[in-house]
Amino acid sequence: MSSRVATNPRVLSGIQPSGTLHLGNYFGAIRQHIALQDQHPGQALYFIADFHALTTLRNADALRTNVFEAAVTYLALGLDPARALLFRQSDVPEVTELAWLLATVTGMGLLERAHSYKDKLANGITPSVGLFFYPVLMAADILAYDTTLVPVGKDQLQHVEIAQDMTTHFNEAFAAADPVLVRPEPLAAKAGVVPGIDGRKMSKSYDNTLPLFESGKKLRKMVGQIVTDSTPLGEPLPFATCNVGALLQLFCDAAEIEQVKHWYRDGRRDGAPFGYGHAKMLLADKIDHYFAPARARRERLLTTEGRAEVEAVLAHSAGKARVLAQHTLDRCRRACGLR
Ligand code: ADP
Ligand code: TRP
Repeated sequence: MSSRVATNPRVLSGIQPSGTLHLGNYFGAIRQHIALQDQHPGQALYFIADFHALTTLRNADALRTNVFEAAVTYLALGLDPARALLFRQSDVPEVTELAWLLATVTGMGLLERAHSYKDKLANGITPSVGLFFYPVLMAADILAYDTTLVPVGKDQLQHVEIAQDMTTHFNEAFAAADPVLVRPEPLAAKAGVVPGIDGRKMSKSYDNTLPLFESGKKLRKMVGQIVTDSTPLGEPLPFATCNVGALLQLFCDAAEIEQVKHWYRDGRRDGAPFGYGHAKMLLADKIDHYFAPARARRERLLTTEGRAEVEAVLAHSAGKARVLAQHTLDRCRRACGLR
């Protein structure tokens, strides 16, 4: 056996503090994270990856604001501190220590093969050692808490596989008789790719996102910018290739979506012409309505009292997470002969 047997299933994921989170982040990641707190109450850990963010962000105020904004977003969307932990990565310094221990058993080749690193090189970025080291820190994030399940998007699957390799390497190098690290498994997000307003994958890098907490006229204006074809009003509209249709599917139940498809096919609704403008208004109303409770919670969390509550959740969660990481590090240090 080359890995330690976990006593509990434990879920963990990291959130990039990258500014305003969007519909793609929600349907591709956040929604699943929040659902997992019900399936694994008390065993779901989410942290805001501020150490990782330093590989790209060099603005202290922006980092602080983004980290706080990510925390508020998760809490507003339903993360329940009674069932899940939400903390800053940097509040658990044991993770950086584990990253060093893992680095000593990691071949350069393993990191040189990382797709996200290779993509960045191909895009002309001059890499820092930190960028190259990113998968080691990510493995430490996962392994420090004896994580068994890591919900991630497809782009992060290879990083979890790298963490699996490191588990084996570390256990074989230092702890063959009594493995100390638990092997994590990835949990791929079920949702497909959410399109942005230009039809490409919604991503902050493409500047094509729809935010989660916009409402009213401003939201309608943003939704109005979604690219569609030039079918004239009153003609049948192609649902399968329509970006507005793809987004509507995220918000409608099966019966509603059948109804919408009908309107698309006919180019008419209740006897009157139905065009992309109408579909967009419907979508804006759906988004507005779906996120209304979260918007209200967010407003409250942004008051002075709410902000103190957010900080208290982050501090309390970090304290609990740290205890878990300290146990793991204690085992690792003993296994290496550091004690
Ligand atoms: P961005 O592309 O805006 O930089 P990130 O790479 O920070 O977003 O993604 C954070 C999480 O959200 C990841 O788990 C990723 O898979 C998910 N995600 C981001 N954009 C989308 C999208 N358009 N469709 C589905 N999931 C997405
Ligand atoms: N690299 C992940 C991303 O870009 C964030 C992350 C950091 C993470 N550490 C992690 C995700 C550990 C899962 C587990 O989205």
